[in-house]
Amino acid sequence: MKVDVLLGLQWGDEGKGKIVDVLTPKYDVIARFQGGPNAGHSLEFNRIKHILHSIPSGIFHKNKINIIGNGVVLDPSVFKEEVDIITGMGVTLEDQLYISKKAHLILPSHRILDAASEASKGKTKIGSTLKGIGPAYMDKTGRNGLRVGDIQSGNFMEKYNFLVEKHRELLKMYDYTYDLKEHEKAWFEGIERISSFQIVDSEYFVNDLLREEKRFLAEGAQGTLLDIDFGSYPFVTSSNTVCSGACSGLGISPSRIGNVLGVFKAYCTRVGGGPFPTELLDETGEKMREKGAEFGATTGRPRRCGWLDLPALKYSIMLNGVDQLLMTKIDVLSGFPEIKICTGYRIDHKIADRIPFDIGTMSEPVFEKLPGWEEDISKLRDFKSFPEPLKEYIGFIESEVKKPVTMISVGPDRNQIIYKDF
Ligand code: GDP
Ligand code: IMO
Ligand code: MG
Repeated sequence: MKVDVLLGLQWGDEGKGKIVDVLTPKYDVIARFQGGPNAGHSLEFNRIKHILHSIPSGIFHKNKINIIGNGVVLDPSVFKEEVDIITGMGVTLEDQLYISKKAHLILPSHRILDAASEASKGKTKIGSTLKGIGPAYMDKTGRNGLRVGDIQSGNFMEKYNFLVEKHRELLKMYDYTYDLKEHEKAWFEGIERISSFQIVDSEYFVNDLLREEKRFLAEGAQGTLLDIDFGSYPFVTSSNTVCSGACSGLGISPSRIGNVLGVFKAYCTRVGGGPFPTELLDETGEKMREKGAEFGATTGRPRRCGWLDLPALKYSIMLNGVDQLLMTKIDVLSGFPEIKICTGYRIDHKIADRIPFDIGTMSEPVFEKLPGWEEDISKLRDFKSFPEPLKEYIGFIESEVKKPVTMISVGPDRNQIIYKDF
């Protein structure tokens, strides 16, 4: 059996959580393969909105296997909070959720290091979610990290104290006051909670499930333009958000990759610092933020908004080998008299449609203008009834990027979905 991979094609928050929730009935297994509690994946049904940070977005469907893969960094405190909320809703998680022994742990001191590092950068700060992601992945690649499997070892406390001591030394570099004790209680309660779950050798577990012909969806976090290698470095996250991350983050061979499903918003948003060529700093951007409720699911920060960026979308499609495009939040664009789409960037008096090494130089986007539509489309359930200008907008995107848009989301709810050629 193959693994389908669902990824964000922009700067995160494309609506991945909602789409995974919609697609889960087609699958037996949903697995997260990278990132950590920097992710905030929202899904909505029965008028209730849920925000997931570490737990895969298949969790609200019965009899599905959800896996937190080895590529994920897990914060026990955040995990416990999430588990408590979901358990409070009557979902028994222990039968449905499996955690990789090889997933790395985010320590309270990682979070402190993240905050201290960002504070020291001043205006050049990345705008991290301050969840300790960067420092935890640094310890992973620096070969100092603590893993979920270590919880079961006899000398876990010794390992913990050794790493914390290292962090205390590092923190001396910064002019930053902190109180570790304040965070440790919740963290150790989280460790207890993790221990009540099925902690597995996930690479074997995953490959056994594939041999048993289980239908498998890997759920990406963040977005391609935040990838550590291909994003707008250094304004990126610390993991490979692209499709290959699913191989290393779950222990599956590249030959196992099936359909690659790329999720993109009908416009662009970015939260945190870094270049954003099509950003709108005017009332049009403000209107998008308000209509789209563009405030971070993890930090509540206002998201920066701008028009759809086709060169960036083509770049993401290329890097991930996207087969199908899933478009979200198109309902937000109703009522804009004119819709713009960036088709290239003017760089040194020439028009380019490739992302340059220094994405910050793409100061002048070139736009195609298309007519807008007035109708509220959030209650529509078939493509045929879409207003003509909206069909034209989707057709334009498909012809430019040469991939089909197969699913269209017209609102945050599970039911607000349209299948085009899926
Ligand atoms: P993710 O991180 O990719 O899962 O996306 P987020 O959950 O962070 O952000 C997407 C936001 O848009 C959430 O508040 C969703 O409830 C909401 N959303 C998802 N799809 C749609 C849609 O088609 N239309 C509207 N209006 N909102 C949507
Ligand atoms: P989901 O999965 C949007 C951004 C942060 C910051 C940069 C680095 O919900 O799409 P980090 O905390 O990783 O050190 O932050 O990446 N970022 C996200 N932006 N959605 C996310 O996740 C993000 N995860 C990280 O805002 O600019
Ligand atoms: Mg999000």
